Parts: sequence; structure tokens; C-alpha cells
Amino acid sequence: MSQNNICLPYFDKLLEQFRQGDAETLQAFGRHVHWGYWENPKTADGTVSDFAAAAEQLCRRVCDAGGVKDSIRLLDAGCGFGGTVASLNERFSNMALVGINIDERQLNRARAEVEPTNSNNIEFVQGDACQLPFEDASFDVVLAVECIFHFPSRERFFQEAKRVLKPGGKLALSDFVPLPLTYQLMNFVGQVIQSPVGQTYGQVDSRFTLNDYRKLAKDTGFIVTQEEDITKQTLPTYPVVKRIFGQMGGRVDEKATAEVELASSLGLLRYLILSFQSV
Ligand SMILES: C[S@@+](CC[C@H](N)C(=O)[O-])C[C@H]1O[C@@H](n2cnc3c(N)ncnc32)[C@H](O)[C@@H]1O
Repeated sequence: MSQNNICLPYFDKLLEQFRQGDAETLQAFGRHVHWGYWENPKTADGTVSDFAAAAEQLCRRVCDAGGVKDSIRLLDAGCGFGGTVASLNERFSNMALVGINIDERQLNRARAEVEPTNSNNIEFVQGDACQLPFEDASFDVVLAVECIFHFPSRERFFQEAKRVLKPGGKLALSDFVPLPLTYQLMNFVGQVIQSPVGQTYGQVDSRFTLNDYRKLAKDTGFIVTQEEDITKQTLPTYPVVKRIFGQMGGRVDEKATAEVELASSLGLLRYLILSFQSV
């Protein structure tokens, strides 16, 4: 169990595998803990190195959606092991990069792994993305790469992102977004996805639709600047993650990932990159 009593069984297991020197898991998830992006999914070869390269591509696409450039102050919310901060640190200069994560254990790894370069300044801070310990109007960009479904409330996160962003600042994120189905079907999908998903991934809420995002943006003082469906480009992720998680044992298995794969392949759940500008 991580700090703040947030239950993230897959992170418990990843950290255990790293401690045991599991080279494959380290290569797959030592930097980024999110899905991959393949411009042409047919080129995916199922190897862990191919998956790690695709995960870097996904991270870069979210950064692009946020309009990241040199010399800005950027917050990466739900920063995992610091993979997005590491990528930005390698590619941009004169940046103030701040990662926030609820789980101090992940931050310890991030602090050990990510060395500032290119005149960048890097800080990893423990805290809740829905209660940001930062001043108003202190960031140019806020990112949330594949983590908002874990947050206690998307509404509170958007309000906090709006508060800490400078006027005109950008929020970019990736998320699993269900199709706007009827309430009953949505609930059914939510339950199907929830049960095994909870066992491996912990608290996850993937019932927030694109229309919910549009309304939330409007209500919290953002305009939508990008809505990109990359579901197809993420599909080669599933065989790799199922294989690695399937070998881990304990609470973590491949069932949860297979459920998400099924929902994604059927088009019930889409993987979206969204960006918003503070107005
Ligand atoms: C799927 S991982 C993504 C990690 C990272 N963004 C990446 O792309 O590698 C989800 C992350 O959200 C973090 N998280 C969950 N709830 C959080 C919260 N309330 N505030 C901040 N971080 C949170 C988890 O600890 C984990 O690092």
C-alpha cells in the first residue's frame, strides 16, 4: 500500500519486480507507466523494447498537445516514475519541471533516475493532484498522462489546474473515455470494467465521457483545443502488458488488461488525448 492509503496494486508489484531485478519489467515500465503509441500499429513486433519506444511516443504526443516549449514552468500531475519529466528534460532546455505524485515510493525512484540537464530545474513533490501545493498562476503547462482516472475527482483536478495555470496556459492529458452510451449501458460497462480492473489497477473511474469533458472544461474556465482518438494506435500495447502482468502473480494478472482491451477493440472505450486552454 502506498502513502495516503491509495491502493495501486500494479505499482506495488512493479516496485517488487524492480527490487528483484526483473529486467523485462524494468525495461517495460521503469520509465513510463502507460500505454504505447504506434503511428502504424502493424509495425508493432510485440517486444518489450518496441513497447518502451512506443510508450515514449505516447508521452511525446501528450507533451505536443500541451504545446510544450523551452523556458516554461511545467507541472506533470500523477508523474509516475518521472518518465515524462525525463523525456522533457532530454528534449527541452531552461525549463522548470515539477512532478507531483501521491506515492512517495515512485517519487524516490524518479528522484534517483532523473538528473537535470540542458539548464533545466527539476523537482518531485509528494501530493494529491486534486489539492495542488502550488501558487496561483505559477505554471505555463499542466500535463496528466494516463492518470486522471485514479484521481479522487476530475472536477477538482480541473479546478486546481485552472488555478495554478497562468492565463492562456494549457492542460493536456490522456484518458480512457467511454462512448456516450445510455445510462444503463454505461453503468454496465462501468461494472464490467471495474471488477478485475480494480484488483490490478486499484481505484479507477473510466465513466467520464467526451461530453462530460467538454462540459467540465466550460464550467472550469477552459476551451477545448484538441480531441484526438488514438485508440487504434494504442492497441499493440495489450499483448505486451497482458504477458508481463500475467507473469507477475499475486493480485496483478492479465484479466484486467484483457477487459480494457476488449472494451477498446469493441469501440466502447476510446483512448483520447485532450488538451485545453485556460481562458
Ligand atoms: C498509470 S500511472 C501514470 C504515471 C505517469 N503519468 C506515466 O505516464 O508514466 C498513474 C499515476 O497516477 C498517480 N496518482 C494516482 N492518484 C493520484 C493523485 N490523487 N494525485 C497524484 N498522483 C496520483 C499514481 O501514483 C501513478 O503514478
